[in-house]
Amino acid sequence: MSEPLRLGVAGLGTVGSALIQLVHNKQNMLADRCGRTIRVTGMNARTAGRDRGFSTDGMKWFDNPADLAVSDDIDVFVELMGGEDEPALGAVKAALSAGKHVVTANKALLAKHGVELALLAEENGVLLNCEAAVAGGIPIIKVMRESLTANAVTRVFGILNGTCNYILTRMEAEGMTFEDCLADAQKLGYAEADPTFDIEGNDTAHKLAILASLAFGTQIAGDAIYLEGITKITIADIEAAKEMGYRIKLLGVATRTAAGVESRVHPAMVPLGSAIAEIGGVTNAVAIEADTVGSLMMSGPGAGGDATASAVAGDICDIAKSKPGRQHGPVLGQPANTLVPHERSAMTAHSGGYFLRLNVVDKPGTMASIATRFAEHDISLESIVQKRGATDDGEAPIVLVTHETSEEAIGKALAGIQSDGRLLGEAQMIRIEKLNES
Ligand SMILES: NC(=O)c1ccc[n+]([C@@H]2O[C@H](COP(=O)([O-])OP(=O)(O)OC[C@H]3O[C@@H](n4cnc5c(N)ncnc54)[C@H](OP(=O)(O)O)[C@@H]3O)[C@@H](O)[C@H]2O)c1
Repeated sequence: MSEPLRLGVAGLGTVGSALIQLVHNKQNMLADRCGRTIRVTGMNARTAGRDRGFSTDGMKWFDNPADLAVSDDIDVFVELMGGEDEPALGAVKAALSAGKHVVTANKALLAKHGVELALLAEENGVLLNCEAAVAGGIPIIKVMRESLTANAVTRVFGILNGTCNYILTRMEAEGMTFEDCLADAQKLGYAEADPTFDIEGNDTAHKLAILASLAFGTQIAGDAIYLEGITKITIADIEAAKEMGYRIKLLGVATRTAAGVESRVHPAMVPLGSAIAEIGGVTNAVAIEADTVGSLMMSGPGAGGDATASAVAGDICDIAKSKPGRQHGPVLGQPANTLVPHERSAMTAHSGGYFLRLNVVDKPGTMASIATRFAEHDISLESIVQKRGATDDGEAPIVLVTHETSEEAIGKALAGIQSDGRLLGEAQMIRIEKLNES
């Protein structure tokens, strides 16, 4: 058997602890499969001396992750601290520059610095593996980077944040408000104390940025993604969606269009009964549409210590199996210096169906004036439903579903309805995601 592969793990929280226990508990199985033993020889976290619930025998403590990253005691630097900048960035750069392979689960770091880090890894002939950074336990990166190499991808989309999916699932199942579901998710440990990153869509955007790069051979562009979270979704939207045959999901979607790459994160209507609509609770799913394979979808646990450690361990095992001195494959599916700049397609050019929920003035002529505004912009309506009689305040709730049109046209029609004085409050607009399922 070859020399043991020595890991330096920075970050001993949910994922780091689960990984160390996994490597320990399955050491024989991993050694059989990889042809060499895998050992954790170095570790670092913010707080020294804390009981982490596992034996630290044979592991040297480092006060600074960058020192661990370049230590002669390790072959692979495993970055599980999180955070888009320091100390993760400096430590990963130091490891790659020192010729150490790196495994990370850090989507925020990759969304911001992924191309720079991929270039550095490739210059230094080492691997930068990041399976756990997208959809936790679902091995989607390897599928896109390796298994689908012969495919031109047209769209990649998915449910990439378990917290949001959990909240939307419970709102529908139990008729609970967004706020109550969020509070419960926090109690159950599915949502952070500060949930902003999850519920505003940033976490989904980080993962989508990585998927879009793998799909289209573009540089990772975390800041080129249209972003809308789930905080404005109400029970009224969820019920109206159901009546129209849809379910609301927070989707991350990247599509190749004639104008560039359209990358967007927003609540979307998906048809009831479709595979993606059936993904409930904290589960994640990623769907890919490509020219040769057609459509495929993978679903599974998108977070959690064990599921995420499974993906990190898979990355480590790939390194353990690789031959010393062999040229390693590119980090993002093609050499990082050949990735093209991400040409962003504007959201106004987005084309699709729209669900609109409006509170309008209950006066004669309102419906006719709304119809005129839509007609002016060539928007044809699939359905228009008045949800109930007018309130005592003269307010009538209506729900409209449009056929395919542009976002620009929808924006102009709504502005027209508003300027006619027919709209009360803000319109709710939710995009309908067209699926290629039969
Ligand atoms: N949790 C998941 O389900 C999941 C899923 C997919 C990807 N990820 C990614 O995995 C990474 C780790 O997530 P996690 O949930 O395990 O986080 P976590 O539970 O908060 O643990 C973070 C660990 O990093 C250490 N740390 C934080 N800042 C540090 C610093 N400045 N210097 C040294 N150590 C520092 C912490 O030290 P102390 O323990 O001493 O505070 C802790 O051990 C993140 O990039 C996350 O996005 C997580």
